[in-house]
Amino acid sequence: MSNYPFKVLGLSGEYRPTSKCGMLVNHALNIAESLGAEVHFWDLDVKPLPLVGEDGCWENENVKEFQELATQCDAFLLSSPEYHGTMSGAMKNTLDWLYSKHVKGKVFGLMSTLGGAQNSNTLNHMRISLRWLHAWPVPEQLAIGKVKEAFDDDGNLIHDDIKERLENLVKSVLNTTKKFSE
Ligand SMILES: Cc1cc2nc3c(=O)[nH]c(=O)nc-3n(C[C@H](O)[C@H](O)[C@H](O)COP(=O)(O)O)c2cc1C
Repeated sequence: MSNYPFKVLGLSGEYRPTSKCGMLVNHALNIAESLGAEVHFWDLDVKPLPLVGEDGCWENENVKEFQELATQCDAFLLSSPEYHGTMSGAMKNTLDWLYSKHVKGKVFGLMSTLGGAQNSNTLNHMRISLRWLHAWPVPEQLAIGKVKEAFDDDGNLIHDDIKERLENLVKSVLNTTKKFSE
C-alpha cells in the first residue's frame, strides 16, 4: 500500500500540457505518482472552462466535471505564468470555478514561470485567492525565472537546483496531506 494514497489534481494557468506551465505541472505530477499518488491533469485545451459569468456558464458540462474532480481530489499542484506581475487570467478563472466546498482544508503546492527575473508576485497572489477558499498552500514554492532557459528540447528540466526544489515541494504537499488525514 502506498504511503500517499491520495488523489492529486494538476492545474496550469496556460493552455496545453506542452506549455511551460503545463510541462512543469506534469513534472510535479510525475513525482507525486512515483511516490504513490493517483494523479490527474486538467487540460484547459481539451476541456476549457468558460469565463465565470459568461452566458450559459452555470450549466457548462466541463465546469461540472471539473468541480466534481476537485471535490474528489485531496491535494493540488498549480503553476501559473506571470502575466503583468500576477497570475494569468486562465489561472484566476480556474480558481474562480472552485469554492470552499470543493477545496476547504485541502493542500496546495504553488509554482510559477516567468519570462524575466524570478520573483514571488504570482505565488503570493495565488496564496491570497486560496486563503479565500480556506485551502492550505504549503510554505515550499517554486518560481522559475527566465523560463525559456529552464527546459531542454525534450521538455526536461535542466537545472538540478530547480529539480530539487520541485521534488521538495511535491513531498511537502504529500506529507502535509498525510498529516491532515491522520
Ligand atoms: C501578456 C503577457 C504578460 C507577461 N508578463 C510578464 C511579467 O510581468 N513578468 C515576466 O517575467 N514575464 C512576463 N511574461 C512572460 C511569461 O511569464 C512567460 O511567457 C510564461 O512564464 C511562460 O513561458 P512560455 O510563454 O514560453 O510558455 C508575460 C507574457 C505575456 C504573454
